[in-house]
Formats: sequence, structure tokens, C-alpha cells
Amino acid sequence: MYRTPHSPEWEPLLAAAWAARDHAHAPYSHFQVGAALSWGTGALTPGCNVENASYPLCLCAERTALCAAVAQGLQLGQPLALVVVTDAETLTPPCGACRQALVEFADDLPILLANRTHRSLHQLRELLPLAFTSRNLTEDIAILPMKKSLE
Ligand code: THU
Repeated sequence: MYRTPHSPEWEPLLAAAWAARDHAHAPYSHFQVGAALSWGTGALTPGCNVENASYPLCLCAERTALCAAVAQGLQLGQPLALVVVTDAETLTPPCGACRQALVEFADDLPILLANRTHRSLHQLRELLPLAFTSRNLTEDIAILPMKKSLE
């Protein structure tokens, strides 16, 4: 599954991501991004970027897809694959914040980047090496100061 950029299972995800991209709210950057996440038993959740006049509030397509999926019941370990589509000639990779948001739910994840003519397949682990995760918080050194502040 999702092993090569042209594996057939990418097609519904690509279609959902392109459709979502049409709904992008990007009046400031004019850079429309679509995403789609597959997870669970056949579930598929699209996302698009949602910008705001207060620029720092802009949301990326990858995170809107992830958050919508969580609202639909996505649980830890369930993401199966992610697609990101734009019209940019250079394929658009997820930003650092989105990589971190994704690794919260999946240690690794095939991520297909696509425009109208090209595709390239990556793995989350490759895009975010040495990720900081909940496992880091289970070490005493991380937990102790939190416990102390609660006392
Ligand atoms: N953007 C995404 O939605 N995903 C990415 O992977 C890169 C950037 C959005 C955020 C903002 O709305 C616009 O693209 C320009 O940065």
C-alpha cells in the first residue's frame, strides 16, 4: 500500500486533495494548498489552507486535514498516508510545524507531494528525523520539573 508514487490507492486521496484545494482560503498568499489524509478503515479526510487577516493565524492544509480527522475519530497510530497538492512547479512539502503535528499521531507516514504533472513520495521519518514526541516526556528529567510545579 502507498509504496510507489503511482500506486493506485493514491488516486482517491489525490482527488480529495485537489477538490479541497479549490476551497482554500488564501487571499493573502494566493498559494492554495490541498491535502488529504487516509486513516482507519477506509476513512479519508481532506484539508485546505485557511488564512487570516491576522497573518500568524494562518492554518496549513495538512493541519486542517489532521484536525478534521481527529474530530472524526482519528486516533494515535491510525494515519495511513497523506497527500499534499499545489500548482507550484516545485512540489510543496509540509512545513516544520505540520511535520511535528503529524508525528504526534504517526511515527512514520508515507507523504505524497504532487502538482499537476509530478509526484514525489517521502516518509515522515525522513522529513522529521530525531522527532520530539510524547516518549521524550516520559523521561524523569522531563517529568520532574512538571511534577514540582504542581506541588
Ligand atoms: N501552506 C500549507 O497549507 N501547507 C504547506 O505545506 C506549506 C504552506 C500554506 C500556509 C499559507 O496559507 C500558504 O501556504 C503560504 O505559506
